[in-house]
Amino acid sequence: MSAEPLTYADTDAMDLKQKQAAYHDWEAASYEEKFSISYDERCIEYAVDRLRKVVPADATFERVLEVGAGTGFFTINLALGGALEGATLEATDISQGMLDVCERNGREHGLAITTTQGDAEALPYEDGSFDLVIGHAFIHHLPVPGKAIQEMYRVLAPGGRLVIAGEPTHYGDRISHLVKHNTWRVFMGVTRLPGLSSWRKPSSGSHTEDRDAVLAALEDQVDLHTFRPDDVEHMAKLAGFGEVEVVTEELTANWFGWSVRTIEASVRPGLLGPRWAFFAFDNYKRLTALDEKVLRRFVPRGLFYNLILHARKPA
Ligand SMILES: C[S@@+](CC[C@H](N)C(=O)[O-])C[C@H]1O[C@@H](n2cnc3c(N)ncnc32)[C@H](O)[C@@H]1O
Repeated sequence: MSAEPLTYADTDAMDLKQKQAAYHDWEAASYEEKFSISYDERCIEYAVDRLRKVVPADATFERVLEVGAGTGFFTINLALGGALEGATLEATDISQGMLDVCERNGREHGLAITTTQGDAEALPYEDGSFDLVIGHAFIHHLPVPGKAIQEMYRVLAPGGRLVIAGEPTHYGDRISHLVKHNTWRVFMGVTRLPGLSSWRKPSSGSHTEDRDAVLAALEDQVDLHTFRPDDVEHMAKLAGFGEVEVVTEELTANWFGWSVRTIEASVRPGLLGPRWAFFAFDNYKRLTALDEKVLRRFVPRGLFYNLILHARKPA
C-alpha cells in the first residue's frame, strides 16, 4: 500500500468502485481485529451454521468461489469446519490488500486459496466454472446487488449453488444504528460520573486531513445497505435461479452484539478482560436462541438484521 499523501478532494474524485478498493485496501490490516475475526471454534461454528441453514450436510463441492472474500473469513472457517472437503478454493475481491491477507491466512491454515482481484459485477471467471459460489457481508457494498447476482449465476455450473450470508437488511441496519448511538450516549453519560472518566478510551487527538482520516471517512460511502429480503429474492429469480430462499436471522442478538462492540470501541484498552468476552459470547448465543426459537414466529423477517440467500441454478 502506498503511503502517498491523500486528501478529501482525491477521494471525492473517485468513483464508487475506486472508493471500495481504496477503503478496503486501507482497512485490510485492521479488519480482522475490528470485527473480532478468528479461525477457531467460535468462527468455524458460525460459518458452518450459516451454510447448514440452507445447504444439506451431505452436499459436496469440487470448485468453490468466494466473491467479496475480504481476508478469507468465510471460506477458511468453512474449510476448517470440514464443509468444503476436497474442493479447490478460489477467492476474489475488489481489494488486492484484502486478498493478500486472505492468501496469507489460507497458507497459515494449510489451505491453498487462489485469489484473483476483480469486480463482483464483472467476475474474472469463465461461465460455469464453480459448483458453489459463496459470499459473506459484501453485497451491502453494492448499490444494486442484482448485477453481481447475475454474474454469480453465470460462473456457476448447472445445478450449482449460491450462498450469501451475513448481509445486513435495510431495516435491520437502521435499527442497529439506533442501538449503537444510544449505547454510546449511555456510555458517555455513565463515564461522566465521578471516578469513571478513566474508563473512556483516550482521545487520539484530531487529525483532519491525514491519510488515515481521509480513508476512514470513506466508511459511510462504501456501506450502502439498500435492500430488503424480498428485493434480494426477486433479484435472484430475475438472474435465472430456480430454487430461491432468503432466511433472516439475529434480532435481539444483534442489538446486544452492537452494544457490546460499541462499548468495546469506547473503553480504555485493557479494561475489559476475558470475563467480558465470555459474558458477551454467552449472552449473544442465548439471545440467538431466543430469536430463532421464539421471536422468529412473530416478528416480520425484514426487521431481523442479517439475511442468508440460497439459490440454485437449474440443472
Ligand atoms: C465487509 S467486507 C467482507 C469481507 C468478507 N467476506 C468477510 O465476511 O469478512 C466487504 C468486502 O467486499 C469487497 N467489495 C466491495 N465492493 C466490491 C465489488 N464491487 N466487487 C468485489 N468485492 C467488493 C470489499 O473489498 C471487502 O473486502
